[in-house]
Amino acid sequence: MSIIRVHDKNFEPYISAGQIEEKIRAMADRLNRDYAGERPLFIAILNGAFMFASDLFKAISIESEISFIKLASYKGTKSSGQVITAIGLDTDLIGRHVVIVEDIVDTGKTLSEFLPQLEHQQPASLKIAALLHKPEATVYPIQVDYLGFSVPNKFLLGYGLDYDGLGRNIPSIYKLVE
Ligand code: IMP
Ligand code: MG
Repeated sequence: MSIIRVHDKNFEPYISAGQIEEKIRAMADRLNRDYAGERPLFIAILNGAFMFASDLFKAISIESEISFIKLASYKGTKSSGQVITAIGLDTDLIGRHVVIVEDIVDTGKTLSEFLPQLEHQQPASLKIAALLHKPEATVYPIQVDYLGFSVPNKFLLGYGLDYDGLGRNIPSIYKLVE
């Protein structure tokens, strides 16, 4: 276990691949129980959640579907500024049991803007599964229904999380050395 360098910064090992695997298995067990017979629709948010979504979905043994979306923000006409829209959501959500799959909930801004758009489509239920949550960074409170790890307000890298485009391929999670 050693320090790695990405761009101009140093990162130290923080959560091992084994710990991630164990946590995902426990989360999948809960999902398999809670959604048995419901044919849930998992919606993974790209890019960050691709690795987590893949490992989580492999551990889901009940009948279920998965779809991937990308969130894009553009300047809205309202004074609030940025508006978030989803690209690639081709499934009808009405009456579906939806589970959003996110890599990390930081300030909560992304999901707090995006969730009402999904609720508008009248899913039967809407829950959040996130690998990581930084409670200290909360600006927009989000209830994470299925959580892997609660982490301090530090910059993390690896397992889908990037620093300026790099590091997503690292199979474990590293923390910025300050
Ligand atoms: P939020 O809208 O502030 O909750 O931000 C969520 C998004 O910011 C995540 O989906 C990540 O893409 C990104 N993010 C937040 N914290 C980190 C981090 O520590 N490392 C890498 N990306 C992060
Ligand atoms: Mg993300």
